[in-house]
Amino acid sequence: MPPAATVEKMFSQIAPRYDLVNRLLSLGLDRGWRRRAVRELALQPGDPVIDLCCGTGDLSADLRPARVVGVDFAEPMLSRARVKFPELTFLQADALDVPLPEASFEAATVAFGLRNVEDLGALWREMTRLVRPGGRVLSLELTRPEGLLGVLHSFYLQVVVPLVGGLVSGDFAAYRYLSRTIARFIPPEEIARSMRENGLVNVRVIPLAGGIATLHVGIKP
Ligand SMILES: C[S@@+](CC[C@H](N)C(=O)[O-])C[C@H]1O[C@@H](n2cnc3c(N)ncnc32)[C@H](O)[C@@H]1O
Repeated sequence: MPPAATVEKMFSQIAPRYDLVNRLLSLGLDRGWRRRAVRELALQPGDPVIDLCCGTGDLSADLRPARVVGVDFAEPMLSRARVKFPELTFLQADALDVPLPEASFEAATVAFGLRNVEDLGALWREMTRLVRPGGRVLSLELTRPEGLLGVLHSFYLQVVVPLVGGLVSGDFAAYRYLSRTIARFIPPEEIARSMRENGLVNVRVIPLAGGIATLHVGIKP
C-alpha cells in the first residue's frame, strides 16, 4: 500500500469525477451491492452507524433511516458528500484513528476501502472498537472472481479500467493504481481470516456478482 498521504491526494484529485467513473466501470452494479450490504445489517431506524472511507457518501446515504456518520480523510470527497446529502453528518478523519468514543455504534461499515488502508488489521480493530458488543462490522470490497469470469475480469482490470477511468477522470495513474490494488489484493478467505485474527467472530463471506465483489460481515463478541 502507498502511504496514506498519497492515497488521500489521489482521491482528492479524482473526487470531481469519482461517482461518474464508478457508475461507468461497475456498469451500475455498485448501487445494488451497497443496497445488498444495507439489507444484510437489517438496521432499525435511528440506529447509530459509522461508515468509514465513505467517499462521496453513497453507502452512508443508503444506510438511512439509520443515524449515520460518514468518515473519510479526503476533504474533496467529503465536500461532494455534503452537497449530495446535506442532512447527513460527515467527519474528516483517518479511518484508523477515529476521534469518537468506543462502543458508540450499532454497526461499522466500509465500502471499497480495504484496499487503500495501510494496515488492514488496524482498520478491523478500529471498527471493532467503535461498535457495541454484539454490533456488526461490514465490508463491501471488489474482489477477483474465478474461472472464465476471472479471465474476463483480468482483461477488464488491465485494459478497460485504466483506459475508461483515465479518460473520464483525466488521471490515468490513479486508475492504473486502483486496478492494480484489485488485482493484487488478498482473496476473500484471507480477508475473513484477518477479521477473525483481529477479534471478530461469526465472520461470513458473501460473494456478489460471481465474486466481482464480496461482502464480509463479522460480530464484535
Ligand atoms: C474507493 S473510495 C470508496 C468510497 C465509498 N465508500 C463508496 O462506496 O463509493 C475509497 C475512499 O477511502 C478513503 N480512504 C482511504 N484510506 C482512508 C483512511 N485511512 N482514512 C479515511 N479515509 C480513507 C479515500 O479518501 C476514498 O474516499
